[in-house]
Amino acid sequence: EKGGYDHFMIKEINEQSTAIKNTLNEKDKVKEIVDEVKGTINRVVFVACGTSYHASLTGKYLIESLVGIPTEVLLASEFKYSAKALNDKTLVIFISQSGETADTLKALDVANETSKTLAIVNVRGSSATRRADYVIQTQAGPEIGVAATKTYVSQLVAIYLFSALLGEDHELLKRLEKVPDYIEEVLQKRDEIKEISKKYKRDKDAFFIGRGFSYPIALEGALKLKEISYIHAEGYAAGELKHGPIALIDRNIPVVVVIPPGQDHKKIMSNLQEVKARGADVLGIGAVGDEDLISESDDTFLINCDVDDIIAPLVYIVPLQLLSYHVSVIRELDPDKPKNLAKCVTVE
Ligand code: M6R
Repeated sequence: EKGGYDHFMIKEINEQSTAIKNTLNEKDKVKEIVDEVKGTINRVVFVACGTSYHASLTGKYLIESLVGIPTEVLLASEFKYSAKALNDKTLVIFISQSGETADTLKALDVANETSKTLAIVNVRGSSATRRADYVIQTQAGPEIGVAATKTYVSQLVAIYLFSALLGEDHELLKRLEKVPDYIEEVLQKRDEIKEISKKYKRDKDAFFIGRGFSYPIALEGALKLKEISYIHAEGYAAGELKHGPIALIDRNIPVVVVIPPGQDHKKIMSNLQEVKARGADVLGIGAVGDEDLISESDDTFLINCDVDDIIAPLVYIVPLQLLSYHVSVIRELDPDKPKNLAKCVTVE
């Protein structure tokens, strides 16, 4: 049941640090899989839909930067067009909360014919867990809200464990242990987001921008907002804005800028200034003490400055989930049951 919360979605957002702790406990099992595949693969392909696709995009950045193995990400519904390029040195990783998404299962059957397959799944005993060669079970517990929240961060943890173990990055493995505390810190400040969400009550459009590791965060933030608040939201690579969509930016359009500390900070900052110069209403999601961000943004939500760009996907998504939740509630919608959507999509 909802355990005193108004909706499952907010309950599940609040359960994220526990979901992460429990998924981190899968480390030994992930290590067994890594030991088996290590040295036998020269290419990784992620396959997923929706939010699970965004987790996969983070996986590409991680595996390529930590391990150096060429990695691609395909939408499950587009997978079959690339199937001929697979071989037995390709590891195909399927990410699915439900383990029952029709497009994902179809692609899994195709990949099984030529390649090694790994499924990262939350629902125990689901079809994907029975069909893949290897399985990593995320430990988010049942997720009832249609919007994926705690299962998303748990998928990310599984991907971080897999990539860090494959790349033998012991420092990153250690840093992951601190993520539940960072999330708790964000949740303690949830009223700040509730306040900001009032601004979005009558908006029709919004942009979310990020670069590098913060680009998939922007995509996921935009998906959450459109899914449960019915605001048209675009997630964009910050550097791509000036190649077209900047034409849509004018006075008062909300732009959420995801700007953690790290190598891309300066570049994201200049993208922020580009939209600001056109009158956008900027919400900066960045680090405590980022004075440039504070002075250039209309609103900010500030996160512990130890969370750099590499681990930002696990933490910076939380204020964006809260934003979409509160905007949905303020627009008098039901965030748990958005129209036209099902928790599990069982048709291709
Ligand atoms: O169960 P899956 O992870 O395979 O589901 C994939 C998508 O249908 C799912 O992530 C969808 O985008 C969510 N409703 C997003 O919140």
